[in-house]
Amino acid sequence: MDLGLPEWVADWARKVPNLKVAPPGPKSKEIIEKDRKYVSHAYDRLFQFTMTRGSGAAIMDADGNVFLDFSAGISVLNAGWGNPVVVKAIKDQADRLVHSLANDAYYDLEADYAELLAKISPGGQLGSTFFGNSGAEAVEAAIKLSRYYTKGSEHIAFMGAYHGRVGNALAMASRIKYKYGHGPYAPGIYFAPYPYCYRCWFNQEYPSCNMLCIDYLEKGILEFGGPSNDLASIFVEPIQGEGGYIVPPKEFLPRMRKLCDDRKCLLVMDEIQSGLARTGEVWECNSAGIIPDILLTGKASGGGIPIGMCIAKHSIADVWRPGSHSSTFGGNGMSVAAGYAQVKYILEHDLMTRSKVLGQHAMKRLNELRAKYEIIGDVRGKGLMIGVEIVKSKKTKEPLYVPQIQGLAWRKGLMMITAGMFGNVFRIAPPIVISQEQLDIGIDIFEQAIKETQAKM
Ligand SMILES: Cc1ncc(COP(=O)(O)O)c(C=O)c1O
Repeated sequence: MDLGLPEWVADWARKVPNLKVAPPGPKSKEIIEKDRKYVSHAYDRLFQFTMTRGSGAAIMDADGNVFLDFSAGISVLNAGWGNPVVVKAIKDQADRLVHSLANDAYYDLEADYAELLAKISPGGQLGSTFFGNSGAEAVEAAIKLSRYYTKGSEHIAFMGAYHGRVGNALAMASRIKYKYGHGPYAPGIYFAPYPYCYRCWFNQEYPSCNMLCIDYLEKGILEFGGPSNDLASIFVEPIQGEGGYIVPPKEFLPRMRKLCDDRKCLLVMDEIQSGLARTGEVWECNSAGIIPDILLTGKASGGGIPIGMCIAKHSIADVWRPGSHSSTFGGNGMSVAAGYAQVKYILEHDLMTRSKVLGQHAMKRLNELRAKYEIIGDVRGKGLMIGVEIVKSKKTKEPLYVPQIQGLAWRKGLMMITAGMFGNVFRIAPPIVISQEQLDIGIDIFEQAIKETQAKM
């Protein structure tokens, strides 16, 4: 497999990083100053990065500095920044029809995209798509549909979960940081321990634990923990994203499937971050051979335009009557055109295999770094969804505050974002079109930042 950059990547984006001034430069500072005056401070901007253009796996700031991107815009630009196929689809669509009135009218591309999603859905068994405008909206659709279908009103979510920032999706977030000051939250959501084996909730070791965390859900929470046996759905991330790129043991998804079957509730698979080649599979749940009742996608399925989709088995989705759910902009021309183009690109160029191959290479290198540096506690992931957990020491596993490492990497030209319940996990999740050479350059910069930080400790 050719692991170089695709030929369409712009010349400026091939030599990375390429810093002309120390960031933030004067133009960036001007933008940031105005932004701070007029834009909400709710955003979590940890460092002073400005965006002007992107191509492949590179992004340029307002001062012409070129950064290597290890975030893919939070797993949105899986087929690369400025992918010409996606850009052309957006331009053509803008000329034709921006808003498609999906609430009241039919529209060819929406049907085409939904047909493709049905074909590539797990087992080809989820055939009905509701289009919304964000991941959180996809989650809300799944809450509503699972209640409507089962007549239940309770849900299981997991500790460390993230499903969005509004309504029930926010109620299912487990970090206080996201919820503080915004309650009260909807009743009926119960939290179970996600199998975070590096920091087992029960101080056990896998596999001798025999998945005690799932027993605790089945025999503890569901029997004596508060739910009234009125479960509508269980929301699962097949790899926990914001929770810290946590890969559960292989037993986890099959046991969740069985639990839902036994309790006659719906299994909702949130693949908003893990889907569409990110982990080396079209959907990560495919790797366990699990067919959920509802699949959620967002991020990469919009090609950079806001989208969120709730894809369900016909037997479930078809209980909704006209008017049961709706959205003014859901399924709008721009997001459907861009998303359909990006998904087709991902499939036609087999970005799943590319993600697997590059991911194996990155995992090998990162594990070598783990052996070398005391502050790298854990390296885990699949494909190009890799988490590197930073700690004060391997023995204590005490989380290390990482913005300093993040800032060091940024000043050297590498854009990295973090995740994790303690905010101490770096995500290695670049656009999947990144070349192996660029991936190595990024890992080298990351190593430098780790080395300098450790030396100062
Ligand atoms: C797993 C998962 N679900 C839902 C969401 C929410 O998506 P959005 O930010 O588009 O509302 C996210 C966003 O990071 C996510 O990672």
